[in-house]
Amino acid sequence: MAAMSKASLIVAAIFLLSLTSATVAHGRSSGRKFVMSYDEPCMEMRLYLHDIIYDYSNSTSNSTSAAATKPTALSTAVSRSGYFFGRMVVFNDPMTEGKVLPPSLEETAVRAQGLYFYDKKEEPNAWLAFSVVFNSTAHRGTLNLMGADPNTATRDISVVGGTGDFFMSRGIATLRTDAVEGFKYFRVQMDIKLYECYV
Ligand SMILES: *[C@@H]1O[C@H](CO)[C@@H](O)[C@H](O)[C@H]1NC(C)=O
Ligand SMILES: *[C@@H]1O[C@H](CO)[C@@H](O)[C@H](O)[C@H]1NC(C)=O
Ligand SMILES: *[C@@H]1O[C@H](CO)[C@@H](O)[C@H](O)[C@H]1NC(C)=O
Repeated sequence: MAAMSKASLIVAAIFLLSLTSATVAHGRSSGRKFVMSYDEPCMEMRLYLHDIIYDYSNSTSNSTSAAATKPTALSTAVSRSGYFFGRMVVFNDPMTEGKVLPPSLEETAVRAQGLYFYDKKEEPNAWLAFSVVFNSTAHRGTLNLMGADPNTATRDISVVGGTGDFFMSRGIATLRTDAVEGFKYFRVQMDIKLYECYV
């Protein structure tokens, strides 16, 4: 008898757990429905990414990214500046709706967290992988983006998935470098179009 009720408690607990995880996985999905159309985006947003690379002379609180590798032997042999091929940069960048830097670089409702590395010998041709992490009253969840980031005026990368409010989202992000200040700061305009989403 005692064993029976223990077993049913476990079953109830597992049932409750699966209910909870379904809710978490779908975000605030009650009443929402899945929309998929490759002709018309179901959600669009424009965000600006601000990246300030740590260059050893500026304050650490002003930096949002850092090179995580030393120049490779190959890059030293072939690149004039000696750090293109194999250089990897890790970032936790603020993202904003407008172009202006936010008052705090650390505390923003939207962040881009990930890495890029240079994969061309002579030029800064990059490959990017990162999450856009939303933590605001408007949106909570992540979008995960990746793809080739060549040194061209605009480039498209894939939105390969999402979590929370962006559960199972997919689409395309068009990137355009909006400002560059030396090797220290750059701002990227990111136009995200989702073609699969819960609305
Ligand atoms: C970073 O430091 C350099 C050298 O000290 C300075 O010229 C530059 O203006 C600083 N950049 C920022 C964004 O503070
Ligand atoms: C850091 O940023 C603040 C405000 O953006 C600026 O006033 C300050 O000079 C910067 N410090 C360094 C060391 O770059
Ligand atoms: C999300 O925002 C809330 C409220 O501003 C804050 O307390 C919390 O630490 C944030 N979470 C993350 C992961 O940044």
